[in-house]
Amino acid sequence: MLIKKAADFRYSEITPKSVYLNRRKFLAAAPAALLAAREAFSPSGRAAAASLGGLAKSPFSTTEPVTSEQIVTHYNNFYEFGTSKDEPVKYAQNFKTSPWTVSVEGDVEKPRKLSMDEILKLAPLEERIYRHRCVEAWSIVVPWVGYSLSALLNQVKPTPKAKYVAFESFFSSKEMPHADGIPFPYVEGLRLDEAMHPLAMLCVGMYGDPLPPQDGAPVRMVLPWKYGFKSIKSLIRIKLVGGQPPTTWNIAAPSYYGFYSNVNPNVAPQHDQRMEARLPYPFRNHPTLMFNGYGDQVASLYAGMDLKKNY
Ligand code: MTE
Repeated sequence: MLIKKAADFRYSEITPKSVYLNRRKFLAAAPAALLAAREAFSPSGRAAAASLGGLAKSPFSTTEPVTSEQIVTHYNNFYEFGTSKDEPVKYAQNFKTSPWTVSVEGDVEKPRKLSMDEILKLAPLEERIYRHRCVEAWSIVVPWVGYSLSALLNQVKPTPKAKYVAFESFFSSKEMPHADGIPFPYVEGLRLDEAMHPLAMLCVGMYGDPLPPQDGAPVRMVLPWKYGFKSIKSLIRIKLVGGQPPTTWNIAAPSYYGFYSNVNPNVAPQHDQRMEARLPYPFRNHPTLMFNGYGDQVASLYAGMDLKKNY
C-alpha cells in the first residue's frame, strides 16, 4: 500500500536527478520486493533479536500514534546500502555490527573508545517516542531506545576549545557495494549546545529491540527537531572540534541543505515544507510544525539567529 502510492512523493524535492531517476526503476519492482521481505522476516526484517529490557519511560515522548514497525524498517534512507527506500532492508542484513566501537575524541579531557557493551551501560536506557521528519516531507513516529548524548559527552569532558561536535558513520565499499548518490563516509555535525540538549539522543534501539541494520545499527543519532538527514546512522566517531564541521548533504547540495537543517515550515530552499505526509499516508496530511513541534524545548538555542539565512 505504502510503496504503491509512494510514486506520489516528489523524490526530486531533495535528491540529485541521477538518484531519483534510479528510484523510479525501483518503484516498478517495489511491491513484489516488499511482499517477499514480509514473508521472509520479522517486522524489522531480521530473524530475531534480543529485546532491550527495563526501559525507562521518557517525559519527551509524544502521545501521537506510533508508526508501524513494518513501515519504519522497510522504508529507509541509508545511502550506504542503496538510494531506494526498499534497498537498505535488503542490502544491510549481513552488515557486521559486532564487534563495534565508537571513538570519542578531539577537544576533550578524556578521549575514549567505547565498545557497544560500554555504550549500552553508560546511562539508563529510555524509550522515547519522537516525531521524525524527513526533508522529503514524509514523517513517522518512532519509539527509539537510548539516552541523551550529553551523558556520553559529560564523561569525556569537552575542553573550552570544543565548540562543535563532528560525527562520522562507518563506511566500507566492500561491505557496502550498493553505496551511491553522495560522498562517503557520511558525516554530520552539531553545535556543542545542540549536542548537549537533552532531546539529542544517542540511539541503540527501536520498538524495544536493538536497532536493525537498515535503521543504523548498532548506534545512531536521533535529533527530532531537525530534518532526518542530521540523524546520522551507524556511528563510529564523535569528535569535539573548534570549527563548524562539514556535513554530507551540505557538501552534496549546499544551497538545499544547510548546517542547521531545523524543521521549518517557512523555509524551503528547494521546495515547499508547509505540509508533510505522516506515513502510511502518502499524501501531505499534516501541517509541518516549527522545530517539528519541539520549539518549547529548543527554540532558545537559536535566539537572535536569522533562521532563513541559517537554514
Ligand atoms: N546516515 C547515514 N550514515 N547514511 C544515510 O544515508 N540518511 C539520513 C539519516 N541518516 C542517512 C543517515 C536520512 S536522509 C534520513 S531521513 C534518516 O537517516 C532516515 O532514518 P530511517 O531510515 O531510520 O527512517
